[in-house]
This record gives sequence, structure tokens and C-alpha cells, in this order.
Amino acid sequence: MNSPRGAEILGQDPLVTNDAAAASTPSTLEIPGLTSSRLSPSGYIAPQDVGAKLAIIMVGLPARGKSYIVKKLARYLNWLQHRTRIFNVGERRRKIAQSKLGGEASESPPTTPSSLSSARFFDPTDPNMVSLRDQIALGTLDELLDWLLRDGGSIGILDATNSTLQRRQLVLFRIRQRAGPQLGVLFLESCCYETELLETNFRLKLAGPDYKGQIPAQALADFCQRVAHYERSYVPLGVAEEEQGIPYVQMIDVGRKINTHLIQGFLSTQVVDYLLNFNLSERQIWISCNGGSFDDATGKIGRNSNLNDNGWRYARALARFIQKQREDWEKMRRQRVASGRTWPLGKISTSSRTSNNRSRPPVSSRDSRPRNICIWTSMMPQAIQTAEPFPEDLYIKKQMKMLDDLNAGTMAGLSFDEIAVLHPAEFAARKRDKLLYRWPGLGGKGYVDVINRLRPVIMELERIQDHLLFVTHRAVVRVLLAYFLGLERDDLADMVIPKDSVFCLEPVCIIHNLSL
Ligand code: SIN
Repeated sequence: MNSPRGAEILGQDPLVTNDAAAASTPSTLEIPGLTSSRLSPSGYIAPQDVGAKLAIIMVGLPARGKSYIVKKLARYLNWLQHRTRIFNVGERRRKIAQSKLGGEASESPPTTPSSLSSARFFDPTDPNMVSLRDQIALGTLDELLDWLLRDGGSIGILDATNSTLQRRQLVLFRIRQRAGPQLGVLFLESCCYETELLETNFRLKLAGPDYKGQIPAQALADFCQRVAHYERSYVPLGVAEEEQGIPYVQMIDVGRKINTHLIQGFLSTQVVDYLLNFNLSERQIWISCNGGSFDDATGKIGRNSNLNDNGWRYARALARFIQKQREDWEKMRRQRVASGRTWPLGKISTSSRTSNNRSRPPVSSRDSRPRNICIWTSMMPQAIQTAEPFPEDLYIKKQMKMLDDLNAGTMAGLSFDEIAVLHPAEFAARKRDKLLYRWPGLGGKGYVDVINRLRPVIMELERIQDHLLFVTHRAVVRVLLAYFLGLERDDLADMVIPKDSVFCLEPVCIIHNLSL
């Protein structure tokens, strides 16, 4: 599959280090809230520190889960406080189609709005269409580069197929032209060979903006034609990139297999680390604060404390509730397996051409086994006690220091009212920027510390396929919810977390809600 001309074509790109690069200040890792330097006092990458930034360029045929992967990846990176944004070429194409409808086409395509989503538009032998698609892709890339170079972004993700060597050459050329040699570039390809995955992706595509409301069989035929057009000129990442020393990650069947090339640097390794732990398992994730403790009753923060009577009542109610939820979920799963989720439109027509056919796996049945429920608590007594009513033989319990409450340093054991009176300067500093604020004194921590200590926990929860109940503390609940809900920086620390409540998250429920 790798064209012998590949290296030659990519070789036309100005991927060379020049004098300016040699003279520039070397970039080292920046972690918001955890590193500080003259250039980046808060650890957020400074606008002029282009060498510390990263452009991630997606590669892959349509319906290979690229958009799913980039949304999840961007959510994770933003949660780590690396400013990340996705730039989607299909969205720009649809915007152009819309503006043509309103009579204000910017790229002036020689087409009608509806033809911008029909299969013909993706024909690689039609030079007008190829040129128009390149223009749209480069326009989107320019938005990405504006965000990285002018608007304070750290990581820009170009969500597009970029499935030919020529397109990748164009993209690299524009990046080097505008950002110079320092900006980090990482190609990330998603390949899918598993039938179930492809079916799910096709389903999502046909329910998406290009085909919404169309007759399903016609939509499917058009989309298969579009994919066939792409397959004619598709060149997966591989030999050409390796000969040119271009970093890449090739992800096969959402993490079943990952090929990497020249992955170095803080941001790129974080990205790969995360992708290595991907899984699409259907399950429930529950998040609860500890039941009420003696300290909670008086508003005192950050210390070990035992459950009071209300707390024990909550713990018992939680155990009954989760047991019922678990039984209901299992019943639903058994019904789904018995009814057999079938693809309603017959065989999908895609040749799934591959650079390495040995990658083709046996047909998967990802979700056919019953799930365990893991309970992860902090090591503080109020959380451990809240999990006590859950029988050990039915639940897999683990205590994790990473889930402990935010350490309030010298303020531990005081209430917020007391801190406001006794330490007004600290109280005001915390109010000004709760996310970056760190409690004073030995062991005092802040939200950014909680985010960073939860990193291995997030990796582990992404890896395992079981249901999971977290029993932890208000600040940690906020940080966990911020990860799942993709909350913005300022919403994270101020989110209202009611006591005696449990949150339920079902990561892939969207797939079940979509039908043709
Ligand atoms: C699209 O227009 O939907 C994707 C364009 C591309 O990257 O090929």
C-alpha cells in the first residue's frame, strides 16, 4: 500500500531545521499549575513558545472513528489544562454549503450546496473537486494555526481524512510555512477492521449532519460510494513518513494495536499514553461523595472523620441502590444479547484496504460478558466506611490515596466561615482563582494537584471494562466530573456538588440511542 513514490512526494516538504530553529530557546515540559518559569509563570504554554505546542493531524478513511477519538482526546488534554481545540474539515465544508445557500460562499465552489456532501464531491479523479477539498482543508488548517500562533492555544487537532500523501504534503508545507520548524507535528491515524466497529461508525455517520433525514438505503449507498472514492487514493501512514522522520501514531481498532514512530516530547507522549488505554466498553460509572461525617456536619474541611448516623444511612441506601442498578443493567444487557443487535442495511461495502492484512482480528463480541463492579474509595475513613455496606464477595473494592480529599494544609480542620475570618487574604486568593490556588502549609494542595494525581486513575478507568463506583470527596468529585463532562476551567472548581447524591455516567450510550 505504501507507494514507492511516497517518500519522494513527502520529500518536497520543507521539513528542515534552519538557523532560526537552531538558535531558538529549547522548550521543556510545561504543566499548568505544576511548573513555573519566566516565560510561563503558571505553567500554561506561553504564546511565543511555539516549540512546546503541538499540531495533531488526523489521518484515516471516513467512518474510522476519527472524530470520536479526537473528541475524547481533546477532552482529556483540556482536563489536564493543556489548551486544546479541534478543527474539523467536514464542518467547514458544511458551513460553506450553508453560506452558499445564503448566497455568501467564501471559497466560491463551482458546485451546488447539496453536491458538497454527495459522493461525487469526493471523487479523486475530478481535479476541481480535489482542488476545492484541498482549499477547504487548508482553510481549516489556517484556523488551527491562528489558534496556536495567535490565540493562546497549546494543541490544535485537524480532524480530516488526510488520506493521501499529496494532502499530507500540503498540510506539512503550510505548517512549516506559517509556524516554522519548531512546532511539534504528530500524525494520528485511525484504522478499523473489526466489523462491529465499522458498523457502529457507519451508523453514526448516517445519523450525522451529511445524511440526517435522508432515506437510509440511499444515504448508505452514497456514503459507501464516498468511502470507495477515498479508498482509491488512500495511503496509510508508514514508509513515506518513516523515511522522512515524521512522528506518527497508527491506532488499529481503537487501541487493539498501536504502531508508533518517533514519539518524543511531553505532549506527544501524553497523547500516546492515553490512546494506549482506550476502550469502548458499555458500562456505568458512578461517582459519590462520602456519606455525611462528623466534620461535614460542622463544615470542617480536609481531615479524616468518621461517618455520623446520617452518613451510615446514606452508605446503606447507596449499597441498595447500586445493587438494584446493577441488576437492571444486567437484565438489559441479556435482553440485548438475546435480541441480537443487527445491522439493518445489509453488508457494508468497503474493502477496508490495509497496509497490513494481518491486522484483521477475529469478529469481536466486546460486550457479551457480565460486568463486575469495582469500588474505588479514598484512604480516608469517611469514604472507606461509605463503601462498607457493599458485600466483599460481590464488589471488588480498592482504596486509592489519589482519591483522598484536597489537602487543606494549615487550614485543615477549619470551616470556610472560620477561614474567611481568620485568614481573609487566603480566602480572597482562593476565590480569585480556585483552580490554580494551593492551600498554604505542609502538604497543602490545590485543584491542579488533584487533576495530576488523578491521571493514573483516569488511565486505569479507561483501560478496564467493568462498572465503577467512586466514593471520594467533593473536590475530587468535581475533578472527576470535569473529566467526563469536558468542563471548562472556570466551571470545574465552582460546580455545585450536592451531598447524599450519586452521579451516573454511561460513556457510550449515544450509540444505542441512534437508529436508522
Ligand atoms: C469532509 O469533508 O467531510 C472531510 C474532508 C476530508 O478530510 O477529506
